Amino acid sequence: MSTKKILLSGIKPTGRPHIANYFGAMRQFVELQDAHDSFYMIANYHGLNTIQNGPEMADLTLNLAIDYLAVGLDPAKSTIFKQSDVPEHAELAWIFDTITTMPYLMRAHAFKDAEAKNKEISVGTFNYPMLMAADILIYDTDIVPVGADQKQHVEYARDTAEKFNRIFGETFKLPEPKIIEGVAVVPGIDGQKMSKSYNNTIPLFAEDDEIRSLCMKIVTDSKTPAEPKDPDTDNIFALHKLFSADQLAEIESRYREGGMGYKESKELLAENIIKFITPLRERRKEIAADPDHVKQILKDGGEKARARAITKMTKVKEKTGLSF
Ligand code: ADP
Ligand code: TRP
Repeated sequence: MSTKKILLSGIKPTGRPHIANYFGAMRQFVELQDAHDSFYMIANYHGLNTIQNGPEMADLTLNLAIDYLAVGLDPAKSTIFKQSDVPEHAELAWIFDTITTMPYLMRAHAFKDAEAKNKEISVGTFNYPMLMAADILIYDTDIVPVGADQKQHVEYARDTAEKFNRIFGETFKLPEPKIIEGVAVVPGIDGQKMSKSYNNTIPLFAEDDEIRSLCMKIVTDSKTPAEPKDPDTDNIFALHKLFSADQLAEIESRYREGGMGYKESKELLAENIIKFITPLRERRKEIAADPDHVKQILKDGGEKARARAITKMTKVKEKTGLSF
């Protein structure tokens, strides 16, 4: 039996992944896969809350698998799978629902945000933290690498593990979130958190022209090129931190002293993003040329994950008296 710590994370197949998904999550996935027994999931049950069109869901799912491979996830090291290939996630989420109260779920940031925006909230969205807790706890996960926005969800998983253990006896391990410092929340081109849901992203595999045009749209204040600027509040600078490491000190002093216009800053950023994205994009094209191979990787990963999940569910069913 492997002594490596168990790691699990996932991304929803709800749109093209963007640079904040990469720096907030995917980059860590790749770095962590050597030292951990890793599970990387395509969270398609979660994705159904937003994508309610069969062909689109199928297409987004296959594409996210290609993205995972293009950034460097290696099926020889990590289990890469579709959440729906392990229906035990949904089964365990149901069991968690029965020990969870509505007021507790009403405190979730994602629910409160949706409510504040007067959105119609599906039961699936409301229940999201319990499915995510099941995703994590069913594999005895030690570590969950995610962006800072997901920290609360991992806390829900910990609380739920504790509650279940209290009621039915020691069953689940308590997972820890692992959040990359310095890329807490990456801003989108409108200055809000970058998110597929806000239409403000720079896609990770964008073409050069798209990158240039998106960079030119980044929202700034109206300071003239000569005026001093505050790097700590500027959205372009926040992205330079990710893409312009070598030039960062120089850009920062030119901001503070004045003399660097936002247009120049955006153009420099676009070129640095292009340099970064070009090799990833090429690799992605090669992988995308063989979709059957990608489907086979998902199938194998799903079988491997499911075998583990079934073992855990056998224990859960014994503890709860569902099987005897
Ligand atoms: P989106 O909000 O674009 O739909 P997801 O919810 O699918 O993104 O997030 C996938 C991963 O990317 C998560 O681990 C999340 O924390 C991370 N992530 C998403 N947006 C950001 C952001 N703006 N800054 C840092 N990390 C992010
Ligand atoms: N909720 C995560 C997000 O929006 C995606 C996700 C689903 C996830 N299940 C997970 C992340 C389990 C980590 C572990 O980004």
